[in-house]
Amino acid sequence: MKLGVCYYPEQWPEDWWADDARRMRDIGISHVRIAEFAWSVIEPEPDHFEWSWLDHAIETLHDQGLSIILCTPTATPPKWLVDAHPDILAVDAQGVTREFGSRRHYCFSSAVYRQQSQRITRLMATRYGEHPAVTAWQTDNEYGCHDTVLSYSPAARRAFRGWLKVRYQNIEALNHAWGSVFWSQCYRDFNEVDPPVAAVTETNPAHRLDWQRFASDEVVAFNREQVQILRELSPGRSLTHNFMGFFTGFNHHDVAADLDVASWDSYPLGFTQMFFLSPDEKTRWARSGHPDIASFHHDLYRGMCVGKSADDGTGSSDDKKTGRWWVMEQQPGPVNWAHWNPLPYNGMVRLWTWQAFAHGAELVSYFRWRQAPFAQEQMHAGLLRCDRSDDQGALEAAEVGKELVQLRQKLPIDNLSVRPNVALVFDYDALWMTQIQPQGADYNGLELCFRIYSAFRQMGLDVDVVSPHAVLSHYRLIVLPAMHHVSAALLAKLSASTAEIVLGPRTGSKTANFQIPANLAPGVLAELAGITIQRVASTPPGIAHEILLDGQTLTATRWREELRLNAATAEAWFEDGGVAISRHLLVRYVAAWLSPNSWYTLLRIAAVDAGLMVTDLPAALRVSRLGELTMVFNFGDEFLTWMPSYRAENLLGGAVLAPRDIAVWRSLP
Ligand code: GAL
Repeated sequence: MKLGVCYYPEQWPEDWWADDARRMRDIGISHVRIAEFAWSVIEPEPDHFEWSWLDHAIETLHDQGLSIILCTPTATPPKWLVDAHPDILAVDAQGVTREFGSRRHYCFSSAVYRQQSQRITRLMATRYGEHPAVTAWQTDNEYGCHDTVLSYSPAARRAFRGWLKVRYQNIEALNHAWGSVFWSQCYRDFNEVDPPVAAVTETNPAHRLDWQRFASDEVVAFNREQVQILRELSPGRSLTHNFMGFFTGFNHHDVAADLDVASWDSYPLGFTQMFFLSPDEKTRWARSGHPDIASFHHDLYRGMCVGKSADDGTGSSDDKKTGRWWVMEQQPGPVNWAHWNPLPYNGMVRLWTWQAFAHGAELVSYFRWRQAPFAQEQMHAGLLRCDRSDDQGALEAAEVGKELVQLRQKLPIDNLSVRPNVALVFDYDALWMTQIQPQGADYNGLELCFRIYSAFRQMGLDVDVVSPHAVLSHYRLIVLPAMHHVSAALLAKLSASTAEIVLGPRTGSKTANFQIPANLAPGVLAELAGITIQRVASTPPGIAHEILLDGQTLTATRWREELRLNAATAEAWFEDGGVAISRHLLVRYVAAWLSPNSWYTLLRIAAVDAGLMVTDLPAALRVSRLGELTMVFNFGDEFLTWMPSYRAENLLGGAVLAPRDIAVWRSLP
């Protein structure tokens, strides 16, 4: 459990750096991320390098014993490079070039940019790769931020054709996979295929899915090129990339496969305002963030780099089931980019930090050290204010720093792991399918994953959000919330499992090529679930269906299906007698979009069936287990009480939690 910070020495007078480094140390910070946007100050002219400032910054941090997470600066190619090679710029869906002037102004398919990315990576790794202070590297910054995965440039078009050729070998196979006979879309040659854009109306969904897969593979390849150079020239360092929240623009599992540590950027208040929460939720959680937004991502990113070991001093997890992960950017105060940017309540920065540790984070790094008085993010808080005084974030980070020292005196805290019994299967490819053909304007697969996740947290259960390729054999409850397509390999794992299984609506409803399975939905799951889906319908707002489940009434909106029971039996019915939830051996299929409370009711039954201990927590209270520790978080405005039901020692806080307070308990034998 380490603290870090994102620092931009190039933005501050050089004679402030030593003081900054000393104050970081005093707060309890051990890791500093630098240089992700520094290309134009490292190489102000082509092949003319200004290394001295970066050398000095690294030495200054090193002198204070700080570890450095050095970044490749490829998220911001310099102006001279863009002017020399305008074709490195991406092109949007309207055919408009996305110009220089902000950041992420490059197309992943640009051959020139790929060479430039490797060139600058090699130069930086050659200079600093073996520096003792450099313990980790971050590749680029937030792939896909500002909607930058898809580019409709000529380079992307060419690369897409090449990608299709590799995938399908011959054009007939593509025509068959895409169903090109529909609307006379048959192609004679791969070179006839364009990106799915600017057509009169909806383009072929299989075409769009392949375009998305292709674009994702471009991100993977871009990242891999940097990784290969860093591994060669900077051996033994942890390689990471900082992923984002609620973002599905590329397959993160594929990118993470090349990394040692998954990291992500946690902005709970920004996400609360910007994503699918209801207006009431946005108001209620405006200053604390929805209690499950950060943890959903913690548990997702913990599942990315499974089975990697650490040798960079951030602690290690030798357990193959637990992935190494960090929070690379932690919100320290108001951000600048959401529709509204409220102040976090006092205590939230501390709470968010502890919540990340509770979910297994090796490092929580704040964004940013000091608020910038200039440019785009001048309204974004830092730990420090622009005038170098401590802002609330610094005070709370320092408090965590002290608490960590206190805790370490009592027990070793750096090698504990999270061991959930519940797995939520999360698949980017399947989510793209829900996005490409939602069939109802409010059908959002990502939201469905989040609502199901949130229900589990509200009943006090820890959750692993896992890839479809994950080992599933040790879980007692497995949920597939939004898996349109289920592979043969996943089917085999589910069939062999002794866990309770819950299948969300539309699971198995498509083939890998985005077609309706020959045996109808749920396709390959038909036998396991013992049902066939015969009709489906999206439901306009204002229409709700009641579902009767064992004396309780659930509510469904947005989506319902009509299913035929083959081997399964009915467990719940719509008010008109249709089957809403089926059950076959250990498998439930849910034929509707349930309200959050209804998911809670149903999943609680499934959890009890799985033999799990559920606790109905107040909406603002969360409990997480990490090794022998249990950590409790009060996100709300009222005092709340939580006591362990087993023999335990209290390490931080207590049974009564003030608003925004935390408690840490250690179970005793
Ligand atoms: C992140 C980004 C940072 C900074 C931050 C502001 O998305 O990686 O560079 O812009 O947001 O909240």
